[in-house]
Amino acid sequence: MTANLSGENTLKGKSIILGISGGIAAYKVPELVRKLRKAEAEVQVIMTKNAQEFIAPLTFQTVSNNPVITEMFAPVMTSEVAHVSLADKADLVVVAPATANVIAKFAVGLADDFLSTTVLANKAPILLAPAMNVNMYTNPATQENLEVLKKRGFYCVGPGKGELACGWEGKGRMSEVEEIFRSIKTILVPKDLKGKKFLITAGPTQEPLDPIRFITNRSSGKMGYALAEAAQIRGAEVTLVTGPTQLPLPRGVKVISVDTAGQMYDATIKHYQSMDTVIMAAAVADYRPAEFSPKKIKKEKNNLTIALVKTPDILAAMGKKKGTVFLVGFAAETEDLLANAQQKLQTKNVDLIVANDVTQPGAGFETNTNIVTLLCRNGKSEKLPQMSKELLAHKILDKVIALQSEARRQKTEARRSRN
Ligand code: PMT
Repeated sequence: MTANLSGENTLKGKSIILGISGGIAAYKVPELVRKLRKAEAEVQVIMTKNAQEFIAPLTFQTVSNNPVITEMFAPVMTSEVAHVSLADKADLVVVAPATANVIAKFAVGLADDFLSTTVLANKAPILLAPAMNVNMYTNPATQENLEVLKKRGFYCVGPGKGELACGWEGKGRMSEVEEIFRSIKTILVPKDLKGKKFLITAGPTQEPLDPIRFITNRSSGKMGYALAEAAQIRGAEVTLVTGPTQLPLPRGVKVISVDTAGQMYDATIKHYQSMDTVIMAAAVADYRPAEFSPKKIKKEKNNLTIALVKTPDILAAMGKKKGTVFLVGFAAETEDLLANAQQKLQTKNVDLIVANDVTQPGAGFETNTNIVTLLCRNGKSEKLPQMSKELLAHKILDKVIALQSEARRQKTEARRSRN
């Protein structure tokens, strides 16, 4: 097995055994292999005899870049007891689709082909993605088998509800590849934030002018949602305070939806003192219309002047009280990136500032990537290259963990030298 890697590198170098049993959903699985390979995981596909009726091993050989194991006594496996050596190397075994038949075999410990033998010999976590006819799935035999396996520590993703290949509607559809992929990452990621409470803000705020108009900005919420998802899969209990976005809500996260800066202020201030860490990735409007017109403002005059008033500065308000909460702010700048970010670090009294020059292509608003410099209270800074917001989210969390443990170390040393 490979060593645990933090955050973004969850899948890099991991050895994943992907078992494919005989269901029509097997046709979706090459995409899963492609994603795993892209994430730099090593994938060894094992196909049952029935699986080969649905899709050719050559497809998996091509996408996994590895010979596919289709037989118990295959000539590729010579020197070692193959199913045992393979099982020993695995970081994770995924069975997708997992039919009622293989689930039953795993539950009773049958070992009559390469897949069932490998599963029995394996010590790594096992993830099942069941797929079958709704009546087979709801049958007490399958339900009991799944219960037995879950009690033994098997993970399960899905099945989902929907139209099934057999013509029936109901539960039995294999989970989508994206969901299986996410489950794999969740299982393999080190839970280095377990027991920690994070409050993360995301998205824009909307400051209403009249019933149909508001002032807002271009934040998509991608950066904040990536942070919420990354913290959640690393074991943190996450509360996401989000302005309006078009993004699907991250799983396993408590979501508080708000529209205005005032509402974001209330939600954040209410919760922040019970948090270990707060990350303000939201693009909070700095100003709002001084007055809200309950009726649509008519197009009567040639010029219209709108008076604006400042919104509350949420981060600065938290910085004032601070206490033991670790505060992370962002700085969205269009000039003098480092000087402005440094000033925000000081005036808002935060522990870490993520400075992004939002005029740079590939950085800031709406993009899938960002380019930032991390500025710490201790005066140190780290310039990061362009990377996906997902990867950056993990880098920011890594930095939070490192700074917190450094602060703990310093406190312990100071206490020791006093005594
Ligand atoms: O959502 P995306 O499309 O993915 O875009 C990501 C992002 C560009 C929004 C993100 O990377 C980012 O920079 N977020 C902070 C945007 C911002 O408001 O920056 P600022 O420099 O104006 O504010 C500094 C800090 O104070 C921020 O942490 C902000 O959340 C906070 N703030 C600002 C105003 C206010 N009234 N209250 C605040 O708490």
